[in-house]
This record gives sequence, C-alpha cells and structure tokens, in this order.
Amino acid sequence: MSQQAIKFAYWVPNVSGGLVVSKIEQRTSWSIDYNRKLAQLAEAAGFDYALTQIRFTAGYGAEFQHESVAFSHALLAATTRLKVIAAILPGPWKPALAAKQLATIDQLTQGRIAVNIVSGWFKGEFQAIGEHWLEHDERYRRSEEFIRVLKGIWTQDNFTFKGDFYRINNYTLKPKPLALPHPEIFQGGSSRAARDMAAQVSDWYFTNGNTPEGIKTQVDDIRAKAAAHQHSVKIGVNAFVIARDTEEEARAVLQAIIDSADVEAVHAFGDAAKQAGKSSLEGEGNWAKSTFEDLVQYNDGFKTNLIGTPQQIAERIVALKALGVDLLLAGFLHFQEEVEYFGRRVLPLVRELEARHLKETAAA
Ligand SMILES: Cc1cc2nc3c(=O)[nH]c(=O)nc-3n(C[C@H](O)[C@H](O)[C@H](O)COP(=O)(O)O)c2cc1C
Repeated sequence: MSQQAIKFAYWVPNVSGGLVVSKIEQRTSWSIDYNRKLAQLAEAAGFDYALTQIRFTAGYGAEFQHESVAFSHALLAATTRLKVIAAILPGPWKPALAAKQLATIDQLTQGRIAVNIVSGWFKGEFQAIGEHWLEHDERYRRSEEFIRVLKGIWTQDNFTFKGDFYRINNYTLKPKPLALPHPEIFQGGSSRAARDMAAQVSDWYFTNGNTPEGIKTQVDDIRAKAAAHQHSVKIGVNAFVIARDTEEEARAVLQAIIDSADVEAVHAFGDAAKQAGKSSLEGEGNWAKSTFEDLVQYNDGFKTNLIGTPQQIAERIVALKALGVDLLLAGFLHFQEEVEYFGRRVLPLVRELEARHLKETAAA
C-alpha cells in the first residue's frame, strides 16, 4: 500500500439539482454563495481538491449550470490552500486559449488551479452549441492531442505541434504557470481509450464509482500500460458518500434517494450516456453496465459503497487505497453539513488506519 496519505476531493455543485437525479429534498445549492462557504468548509475539513463540472445544457435535470473555469477561479479566490480542478471539454475549448487562461489563474492563485480534461458523452449538448460530434475513440484522440499541446505550451518556449486536430507554430507563452512542472492534469472516463490516454499523458485518471473488483481491474490495466510508456499516473475514484451514525440510517437515505428518483430524467440520461462507454469498441466505459438505480447518481457513485457508519466508510476507503487508489472523489446529498461531518468523523479514522498500517509495515 502507498506510503502517501490518500487524498480527498469533492464534487463542486456548480450545476443545479445536486449530485443525484432525484426529487428528494437536498440542502445543496448551485449558487456561488453556497459554494464559497462549502469550499471554505472543505478546506478546513481536510479536503485537498474541489472538482467543478462543465455542462452546456441541461441533460438530466441540472437545469442551470455555471461555467467551470470562471467558477473555479471564484472558489480559489475564497480559499487559501484548496486546489480547484476545472473541467475542460475539448471541442468548445481550444488548447491555446485554455493554456493562456489557466496560466493566468495559476499566477493569480499561487499555482492552485488544475484541470480535468473530459471528452464528452452528450451528443445533444454538442449539437446545441454547434460543435462537431466525433465518435468515441476519436474524441479521446483529440483529448490526447489537447493534453500534449497544453503541456507543450506550459513547459516549452517556441513550441510547435502538428497534429490531426491542433496546430501550434513556434509559440512562447509568457508568463508560464507557477505550478511545476505544470498545473496538474486530470482526466475523466473509464473506457479502454480513456485508460490508454491516461497511461501516456495524464497525471491523474478519474473513474466513475465501481466495486473494488471493477476498480482493481482498471488500476492494474492502467499501471501496466503506463509502465510500458515510462509514465506514471495516479488514480481517483468517485463515490457518493452517505455517512450516518448508524448503518440503518445511511441505507435508509440511499433508499429514499432511489425511491424519489426522477424516472424520466434518469432514463433520458441513460439514453444519452450510451454515447459514452457503450459506444466504445469494447463497451467497457462509464455507464456501460449501469442499472437504473446506479444511474440515479450520475457517476455511478453508489457502486463504490461508501454508505454506512464512519468506521465502515473509513475501512472501505483504506481498502481502496490498498488496491492502488490515490484519491477519493466524494459527492454528498447535503453538501455543506456532510462535508463537515466527513471531516470530523470519517477523515480522522482514515488517517488512524493509515498510520496503523505504516507502523505494522515498519515493524514487519
Ligand atoms: C470524475 C469525472 C468527472 C467528469 N466530469 C465531466 C464534466 O464535467 N463534463 C462532461 O461533459 N463530462 C464529464 N465526465 C465524463 C467523461 O469525460 C467521459 O465523457 C465519460 O466518462 C465517458 O467516457 P468513457 O466512455 O471513457 O467512460 C466526467 C467523468 C468523470 C469520471
């Protein structure tokens, strides 16, 4: 097991409706005031990162959506240590503009901005904004070029790139970002194409929620592929956390979320998501095998099963770490109060278990 402490990120609710496609009451808001306070609470609770989302149109509820880069900057301005990961979607974003815009935010925030390169799953959204829709593996080929260009512009002078999607000619960005070697590059997606890309160019691979077996298969595949490319990549896993004083309470909350599912929106999302994992050659990507219940949390976060008491959840997090997971990406029902509870009740148990493990391995 890694000697490094496992890191924690939370999903920024910068789109309306929270993280579940359900009509259940949620004390979560997509407003900037709510989110500024949430970022401050998360920082104090021990979270390392916040992850924003990019949506151009409503897809499954999520009727209102704040843009990810502008929103990330606002959260950075309200905090001092937290790193904020801004979602960037190749297609609408061009890499030279993203490199410039993010370098400025990096300078303004002492190197605390990071990016999550997402490759797109929602054809209707691309059509709505007049963006050409590429088929699954082509989207990843474009994202890979996008990342190579970002890194090139951020780290080299007189950078030139001649790709199938992007061309850069003898370009020197000034000032370059403060973060070294460059702002961290995350990517989201779980298909074979996503793993191939992570194994070559990304610093972090973010995947949807899954069972320990499902996560292990991905971790082993990526680590083997990355080694073949002399690249190293860290792994972040999504989970919808329901931590309550008793397991019964936590399970009852899960049941209530599912019982109040917005059935029409879940089905609409499931149909759109077929453009993602199922449409890859192997049909292994996100949502390829998700049930109706799974899709109520739109990144399969129930599957990771961080639902129970603080002790149960802490043990399962450390078990994920033992499989090679470096970061846990958490979503919650009532964000502010549950982030605070997580920091107070779950995180110290995780650190205790990690310390105990370190002692045991040192003694062995
Ligand atoms: C943690 C995480 C965050 C994501 N955030 C976004 C996002 O903000 N906007 C978006 O359009 N897609 C987002 N995605 C979707 C992916 O970029 C990708 O399109 C989807 O997972 C399907 O890819 P796959 O077939 O490789 O699994 C995210 C995925 C993950 C795992």
